[in-house]
Amino acid sequence: MSGTLHTVFFSPTSSSKKIARAVAWPLSQALGKELCEHDLTFPQGRNKSLHCTSDDIFLFAFPVYAGRVPRLLNSFLAQLSGGGARAVVLAVYGNRHYDDALLEAVDTIQEHHCDVVSAGALVAEHSLTPKVGTGRPDNQDLKNAEEFAHHAAQAALSGHAGPVTVPGKRPYKDLPPAMDIRPKTSDACTQCLLCVSQCPMQIISEDNPAVVGQGCIRCCACVKACPEQAKFFDQEPVLKIIGMLEEKCRDRREPEFYTV
Ligand SMILES: Cc1cc2nc3c(=O)[nH]c(=O)nc-3n(C[C@H](O)[C@H](O)[C@H](O)COP(=O)(O)O)c2cc1C
Ligand code: SF4
Ligand code: SF4
Repeated sequence: MSGTLHTVFFSPTSSSKKIARAVAWPLSQALGKELCEHDLTFPQGRNKSLHCTSDDIFLFAFPVYAGRVPRLLNSFLAQLSGGGARAVVLAVYGNRHYDDALLEAVDTIQEHHCDVVSAGALVAEHSLTPKVGTGRPDNQDLKNAEEFAHHAAQAALSGHAGPVTVPGKRPYKDLPPAMDIRPKTSDACTQCLLCVSQCPMQIISEDNPAVVGQGCIRCCACVKACPEQAKFFDQEPVLKIIGMLEEKCRDRREPEFYTV
């Protein structure tokens, strides 16, 4: 066995991780690569650097935030040294749309000396509301991801050069202005500290989990993890987005896959 399949993901509510793993295993088997996982969800993972070689495969899965790659992944991607590895990029989105996120990720990874030969846009339950993309990725999504892995393996073996052509526009969609909105905590909180351990920004106080520091990315990991449903957002801008999603984005979208 020669070379490593580096599975890299950021996944506050676990959908991107599930999808990355569904692709990684069959891809590693088909290409005879050793599997190595890099979880960027917490700061200790994001602060590491990654150097690949031309024998390696770089598999990158991330959640789409506001139609773009999450900003906090910029510093990890900036230090990536691709070394001519072939790459597979997976944008995971909450059944609204992925806009320019897949193109942005393909461009960025290609710039860091990977050859992006395959890409996919896959659907997950929306972090902000379980009524949109409910239960996704489901069994069919995971089967589709597995099947895609075989096409991605063929693309990697084909010798065709990347980057793969994917939908999206340049310049990419403008990012929304940064807003300091943090989750609130109800009296139902039992101080179990689960939210503290699940927060990718590590901003929930261990001494009092009702206290949330600056830097919230509204990933909803704390909201989804809380066994008492004590964490929530009720601020107007968030409620407005949830209202739009629940009104307009409930029709099932299907995954899309692209190869060279
Ligand atoms: C701040 C934020 C912005 C989001 N923006 C989008 C978006 O533009 N389009 C979309 O379909 N889903 C959007 N989502 C939903 C996530 O992409 C989706 O729930 C995601 O894949 C969750 O990934 P994870 O489970 O790996 O954390 C957004 C979620 C958050 C928290
Ligand atoms: S406090 Fe903000 S960043 Fe931390 S888990 Fe909750 S929503 Fe995510
Ligand atoms: S997960 Fe919920 S119950 Fe546990 S500390 Fe956090 S807010 Fe409180």
